[in-house]
Amino acid sequence: MTQRACIVGYPVKHSRSPKLHGYWLKRLGIDGEYRAEEITAAGFPGFLQNLAARGYVGCNITQPHKEAAFALSEPDARAKGVGAANTLWLDNGRLRSTNTDVEGFIGSLDAAAPGWDKRTSSAVVLGAGGAGRAIVYGLIERGITTIHLVNRTFEKAHQFRTQYGSSIQPARWEDLPGLLQGAGLLVNATSLGMKGQPPLDLDISGLADGAVVSDIVYVPLETPLLTAAIKRGLKTANGLDMLLHQAVRGFELWFGVRPEVTREQFEMLAADIRAAE
Ligand code: ATR
Repeated sequence: MTQRACIVGYPVKHSRSPKLHGYWLKRLGIDGEYRAEEITAAGFPGFLQNLAARGYVGCNITQPHKEAAFALSEPDARAKGVGAANTLWLDNGRLRSTNTDVEGFIGSLDAAAPGWDKRTSSAVVLGAGGAGRAIVYGLIERGITTIHLVNRTFEKAHQFRTQYGSSIQPARWEDLPGLLQGAGLLVNATSLGMKGQPPLDLDISGLADGAVVSDIVYVPLETPLLTAAIKRGLKTANGLDMLLHQAVRGFELWFGVRPEVTREQFEMLAADIRAAE
């Protein structure tokens, strides 16, 4: 029988997930399907209740449903840590959930800069929103002991310290020049630099030569932050790398095979994104 999964969001048209999972289904010769489902907030609980009846073994969740999905399912430790779920699967009638943005971020760093976590214990993260949560949770999981968290709304960075503990050091934009000098990793988890958003204005000349730079933004694929990092010869991971790596676990849960992120797949989606830039 054809195994079926989907991405649920509102809107969902922009999602690259059908193409991304479709690539693996075809390449691995799996009798499966991955669709996009545009569901309003009002319709979302009913949609989840009828997931099996609709022929689905599970789904990805995108905005605005990640918190609702968390509340309506049995979350694992990562989903609990982030307070949001983006991947759901049916397990003998139980609707379970996880947050694969954590491994998407970590997986993109492992691929771009193997051993990055052995070379540093200190990171600078810009942004204390939803993406920032997954990133901070992943860094703590990997043993990073000092995370300088810079956020426009300072209070939100403080809340992260309450939630995630003393490895979080709330900081302000003015502190960045000094903080960058000691950091082995710099992550942009804000929307700054995204198409249609204000630019991320940051001088990274103070970063050490071995530092790694990651940006969650993927339109454009290469943000000015990443261009500056590449120019310096630093290792980088972009938002598309994260998107691809976060998809691995869901595919494995629904279709029973752990897929590999490939260069060909990256290029296929990159072409799509460049067309939208
Ligand atoms: P996401 O789920 O993508 O992380 P979010 O939860 O809305 O989205 O978080 C967006 C992040 O980008 C926040 O850290 C936000 O800062 P605030 O917490 O102060 O809102 C940051 N951000 C968005 N626009 C910004 C801007 N113009 N200047 C600085 N930071 C900005």
